[in-house]
Amino acid sequence: MDIHSYARPDRARVRHLDLDLDVRFDRRILEGSATLQFELIEGNELILDTRDLAIRSVEGAMAYDLGPADPILGAPLRIQVPPRTDRVRVHYATSPTASGLQWLEPPQTAGKQHPFLYTQSQAIHARSWIPIQDTPGVRITFDAGVRVPDGLRAVMGAAESVGCFRMAHPVPSYLIALAAGDLVFRPLGARSGVWSEPSLLDAAAHEFIDTEAMIAAVEVLYGPYRWGRYDLLVLPPSFPFGGMENPCLTFTTPTILAGDRSLVSLVAHELAHSWSGNLVTNATWSDFWLNEGVTVYVERRILETIYGPPRAAMEAVLGRRELDHEMAGLPEADTVLHLDLKGRDPDDGCTLVPYEKGALLLRTIEHTVGRTRFDAFLRGYFDRFAFRSITTADFLSYLRGELPNQVPVDDWIFRPGIPSGAAEPQSGAMAQVESTWPAAGTQWSTQQWLHFLRSQPDPPDMPRLEREFHFTESRNSEILHQWLLMSVQNQFTPALSKVEEFLASVGRRKFLKPIYTELMKTEEGRERALKVYIRARPTYHPIAQATLDAIVK
Ligand code: BES
Ligand code: ZN
Repeated sequence: MDIHSYARPDRARVRHLDLDLDVRFDRRILEGSATLQFELIEGNELILDTRDLAIRSVEGAMAYDLGPADPILGAPLRIQVPPRTDRVRVHYATSPTASGLQWLEPPQTAGKQHPFLYTQSQAIHARSWIPIQDTPGVRITFDAGVRVPDGLRAVMGAAESVGCFRMAHPVPSYLIALAAGDLVFRPLGARSGVWSEPSLLDAAAHEFIDTEAMIAAVEVLYGPYRWGRYDLLVLPPSFPFGGMENPCLTFTTPTILAGDRSLVSLVAHELAHSWSGNLVTNATWSDFWLNEGVTVYVERRILETIYGPPRAAMEAVLGRRELDHEMAGLPEADTVLHLDLKGRDPDDGCTLVPYEKGALLLRTIEHTVGRTRFDAFLRGYFDRFAFRSITTADFLSYLRGELPNQVPVDDWIFRPGIPSGAAEPQSGAMAQVESTWPAAGTQWSTQQWLHFLRSQPDPPDMPRLEREFHFTESRNSEILHQWLLMSVQNQFTPALSKVEEFLASVGRRKFLKPIYTELMKTEEGRERALKVYIRARPTYHPIAQATLDAIVK
């Protein structure tokens, strides 16, 4: 049972979805129908999740009823069906404030001429644009027809043929995705390519040139890529995440277009989800570490293959350091891998713990049993559970059966903190920057600069850092973010106008949340935060708005 869904898949389980939607930029709604094919197991009721949907009618139902809305879960749509029915068609429209949709005005896009729409369904936002059993424990195939205004292009995380989209593999609802805007495509390899607005296409194709090699690298390690195409879609800067692993079509933030491919670990990450997450899926949001921890482990193996062990080690050191940093501010209960999310929005469980503690657990097992055995185990795991949703308990019993080992896995999963014996990442390149002040013109990697900044004494010599390295002018979003965060922490006034500019132009939650949180710590900072937030909030995604509304007040 998934506490974040009203569905009762043990009684009626949806198997297939036919979507038929009009994208109405004029009214900021999607409208049309969702036809659900389901298997009736017990009783005569099909329960769907919804949030802020206007239900117009339900074809094929004897009766239906939209229950009261819960602030986290939305409202259950209870549909009474005649005996032996296997499909209903729900006619509906979304709300202009749907939590899983962002409607952008032309000025918020790169081209400034056309509007843009995209969905973000993870964790429980699919229900705000499709009436569906919105739990990762239920997998469905789907077909979709989507109409957009002339001159715009719709894309989905699915295969496309003559204007229709089809996902022939059963996927959880949080992986259903749609975008529409002034989009163009360029191939990167035989089965990979990139979509973006026209003005970003050259930069995107240059940045993502290693995509095909990355796919091949995972295939060697963990078996075939099973989704047909792997394309990337570069979204406008208000996208609240770094990336989202929609099947066949990863959504990414434009802030990783650094020009030097230094931030493509994000591509490796989202690609890795094609195995961990999309193929083998967390059955509930408490098992989220199964998606993200395994993915970060695979991501670093990709980096190691393509860019070499030193690069992978640098990323691991950055992740390890950030994990400690974040855990220091979390209640103990949030530092376990298997999270208790009772009464909580699953988006709240989204800390670095499932990512970095999860990856560290896998690394530790790998080091204990040896890489050859661990690789064989993971490959077998992806095969064994392919196209299935599993719990932490399923993982544990498979691990015990296939790869008995000495790691205290239960402590890792169910107890707070990092157990002793963890395989701590080591990097010579990172150790070097901890104790060196670089000469002007030093050629360090992005990862080294980040680590250098994060290793400064408290308080850092902000004027000297700026004088010698001009971080305020950095074109690398990660370095700039780190520098601006330090500028707020240390009230380094020369960078504060850049802070405002950054907050007003980027919607990536990982960047916004720490800076706003830091600003709120002083009276002067708070005034600055409120001033920017009032202006910028309408440009942020509803998911980012929800996070920041709780901080900036
Ligand atoms: N699936 C996540 C994004 C996500 C998680 C969306 C939870 C909604 C709820 C994606 O794969 C991810 O982890 N993105 C990271 C980047 C990654 C390189 C760590 C992000 O967006 O920061
Ligand atoms: Zn991820």
